[in-house]
Amino acid sequence: MIKNKKKDSITKNSSLLSRWLYIKKFINSFTTMGSVTPSSKRACKILANQIKSNGGYILELGPGSGTVTKAILDSGVSYEKFIAVEIDEHFYHFMKNKFPKLNIIHASATDLQKILPKDAIGNVSTIISTIPMLNLKEDLIKEIIDASFSVMKKDGNFVQICYKHTSPINSKKFGLKQYKCATVLWNIPPMTVFEYQKENKESY
Ligand SMILES: C[S@@+](CC[C@H](N)C(=O)[O-])C[C@H]1O[C@@H](n2cnc3c(N)ncnc32)[C@H](O)[C@@H]1O
Repeated sequence: MIKNKKKDSITKNSSLLSRWLYIKKFINSFTTMGSVTPSSKRACKILANQIKSNGGYILELGPGSGTVTKAILDSGVSYEKFIAVEIDEHFYHFMKNKFPKLNIIHASATDLQKILPKDAIGNVSTIISTIPMLNLKEDLIKEIIDASFSVMKKDGNFVQICYKHTSPINSKKFGLKQYKCATVLWNIPPMTVFEYQKENKESY
């Protein structure tokens, strides 16, 4: 009983810390953050539901304080097949502490070819990205998309959130097929989840 109370208080403190870190980051780095609070449980579950379980790696781009990360792990993805890539140093250290077994890399999603282990290159089944693409210039979006599809299996899927109901990625221009998976009103701000696949599976 006392042990449970202690565990509850640690969880509560860690959640408060994660929210505080999130708000602080939002104020200082609006472009890379995009939202003032972490994704809701409902949104995280919908994102995790888009994972293809065909034996490849699952990548998470922009784990922040780890809400989506937890949903991915809860959906049954093993630590061995899961890699998270976070550009922000504070979130990187926060996540190292929160998920000691997680393979998290402190880098930009534009550098996947350089930073991923060799056996992951060409062997990624699903990429889940909460990077706020709406805030980025098209050149940078293209770099992230090119890097992502260059490490993916031919039938891999790229899952992206957006705080608008239209796609933040110009699929036609980048040779991608796009699907709208869900609109999540139960999130601040409300979000849409998009999925992208290669139009021509030989082209990347
Ligand atoms: C909207 S927050 C999402 C955080 C968390 N996944 C969630 O859903 O609550 C965006 C995250 O993407 C990270 N990020 C932005 N640009 C990135 C990049 N080029 N490569 C890797 N991470 C990036 C930010 O540091 C931040 O942690």
